[in-house]
Amino acid sequence: MSMQEIRFGIIGCGLMGREFASAAARWCHLLDMDVRPRIVAVCDVNPKAVAWFEQAIPDLRLATNDYHQLLDDPEIDAIYCALPHHLHAQVYREIIWAGKHLLGEKPFGIDLEANKSILEVIRQHPELLVRSSSEMPFFPGAYRLAQWVREGRLGTIVEVEAGFWHSSDLNPLKPINWKRRASTNGIYGCMGDLGMHVLHLPLRFGWKPRNVRAFLSNIVPERPDGEGKMVPCDTWDNAILACDVVNEQQSFPMTLSTKRIAPGHANTWFLRVISTSLSVEFSTKNPKTLRWLAYTPGAEQVWQSVDMPYHSAYPSITGDIFEFGFSDSILQMWAAFCDELVHRTDMRQPLYCVTPEETYASHLLFTAALASSERQQVVALDL
Ligand SMILES: NC(=O)c1ccc[n+]([C@@H]2O[C@H](COP(=O)([O-])OP(=O)(O)OC[C@H]3O[C@@H](n4cnc5c(N)ncnc54)[C@H](O)[C@@H]3O)[C@@H](O)[C@H]2O)c1
Repeated sequence: MSMQEIRFGIIGCGLMGREFASAAARWCHLLDMDVRPRIVAVCDVNPKAVAWFEQAIPDLRLATNDYHQLLDDPEIDAIYCALPHHLHAQVYREIIWAGKHLLGEKPFGIDLEANKSILEVIRQHPELLVRSSSEMPFFPGAYRLAQWVREGRLGTIVEVEAGFWHSSDLNPLKPINWKRRASTNGIYGCMGDLGMHVLHLPLRFGWKPRNVRAFLSNIVPERPDGEGKMVPCDTWDNAILACDVVNEQQSFPMTLSTKRIAPGHANTWFLRVISTSLSVEFSTKNPKTLRWLAYTPGAEQVWQSVDMPYHSAYPSITGDIFEFGFSDSILQMWAAFCDELVHRTDMRQPLYCVTPEETYASHLLFTAALASSERQQVVALDL
């Protein structure tokens, strides 16, 4: 099989930039791929962040603190951009103007205006593949759940709950960083940080909220700045969004929650669908376990669970008996992006990364949620 190489540049060499470098380095983990990423250039304003890449990728061609050098380089096909949210609009737009494919990070613009400005440029470049990162649906349990939804096995949906929960912010002594400041993270707070992960599958299934009543909490209003002072922590810590989903087929309530203060939870992403024919739930809290209840009228109601085999979107060398983890979900997401970049609608499996239109829908929802919280009212939506 011939192997097509995609030459990548990374802008933003922090937490997520390193995850991509690691995924690219173990591409041999995947079987039967006809496409592979090669990281040829990186950019970060922090020299220490760049130094890690220089060590990890010995044949890196370019390491710089000026991302324009990557955009001017004709030998770069695509960019992974993992920057703080206030930089998304400016840098994503420039990447697309430069004619590079883009896997960007959520929330794809710090606010609705920023998101719209990115989408405007994307529309002018339909030849480019532009997607947003969201890896959790590639966990085998979530992937199977999505397959069952696509196959129409649910029956009438009674209710849906989806969430993404963290807890390290319970510690009031945790120093502030850019993700806890509205100026760099955005006024959505935890929704901007975590919300696209929660919405990826519901939006993909066509479960679009028609309205929202939001409950937003700022539980720790100030934090240490790391230099002995307390400073305002002006972002929402937790958000619970109660939505009505109405489409041609049915209507049901959907609760979406994004929490930075959910005691005991570390990166818990979950989706629970209660339905008349097949109820199903998956949570990364128990990442091997998929639970479901298949029902026929009059039959006993029995929840079943299975330890999921290591089966995600793309086959790999790992045997079925072994466990799947966060870095595997990142690898699978990258496989989906590279597969789609080369094969577009003929990609090998159906779960593609978040589209720009889906990020726009998330921005409409989060903007409505802010209004709902402020007015303490239900706010209507047209997604
Ligand atoms: N998909 C996920 O699971 C996931 C998880 C965490 C974060 N994220 C997203 O990834 C993005 C980055 O988050 P992170 O956790 O990697 O942040 P980070 O703070 O670890 O890394 C950001 C990097 O950007 C660099 N940077 C800042 N300004 C720059 C500039 N002008 N030019 C070049 N580099 C610059 C910083 O020095 C830093 O190294 C955000 O959009 C965030 O929401 C996604």
